[in-house]
Amino acid sequence: MSKSEEFWDKASKNYDKTEERFEYIHKKARGNTQKHLKESHVVLDYGCGTGTASCEFASQVKEIRGIDISSEMIRIAQQKAITNKSENVNFEKADIFESKFQKESFDVILAFNMLHTVPDPRNITQRINELLKPDGLFISATPCLGQEMSFLVSLQIQLVRILCKFGVIPIPIRRVKSTDIDDLLAKGEFETIESEEIFKGASSYFVAARKSHKT
Ligand SMILES: C[S@@+](CC[C@H](N)C(=O)[O-])C[C@H]1O[C@@H](n2cnc3c(N)ncnc32)[C@H](O)[C@@H]1O
Repeated sequence: MSKSEEFWDKASKNYDKTEERFEYIHKKARGNTQKHLKESHVVLDYGCGTGTASCEFASQVKEIRGIDISSEMIRIAQQKAITNKSENVNFEKADIFESKFQKESFDVILAFNMLHTVPDPRNITQRINELLKPDGLFISATPCLGQEMSFLVSLQIQLVRILCKFGVIPIPIRRVKSTDIDDLLAKGEFETIESEEIFKGASSYFVAARKSHKT
């Protein structure tokens, strides 16, 4: 098992509880997302975590596949789908680069709270572009740790970064700004159709972007 999987397995136990303090931001991002979903959509929730977003969107789309490298996150997500009676949601332990995911097979790909903590975001946006159907949508919400935040959140982030530096937290946590996400999406051949900087104690950047047509 990789250190990253081990870390997220451990984090899964209290994940929903610790994220409650950012519930305003998460709800706002999910609300913005719903406007872009259609009954015919096949959706991939990349890094689905405990499956909150997938379960919330299930009734609005044809099918959702939630993938995550943490088997513990997936176990909690599967329980949530059973509790919510979400039959068109399928959670599986998988990495987005696995060959079983076919090119141009998804209408929408979601990446909530992911892009600030993956080793190579450029690689990820390229892969997402490849997996989206022509005109497919990439919808993300990314914590912007390089922007405004409350004193308390700032202290917590400083502690997290010290733990990262000493290897206690074995994943990158970058100080992303909304402009970095704009740049990433433009270079990844996406055209932004909606964006919003959401702030409540911490900053998060919501973006819905369409896969650009290659010329
Ligand atoms: C900050 S959590 C976000 C979870 C969820 N999207 C949310 O908004 O609550 C990041 C998640 O990404 C997963 N993850 C990290 N690297 C991944 C990868 N390469 N492929 C799939 N999932 C990954 C972690 O296991 C973790 O559940």
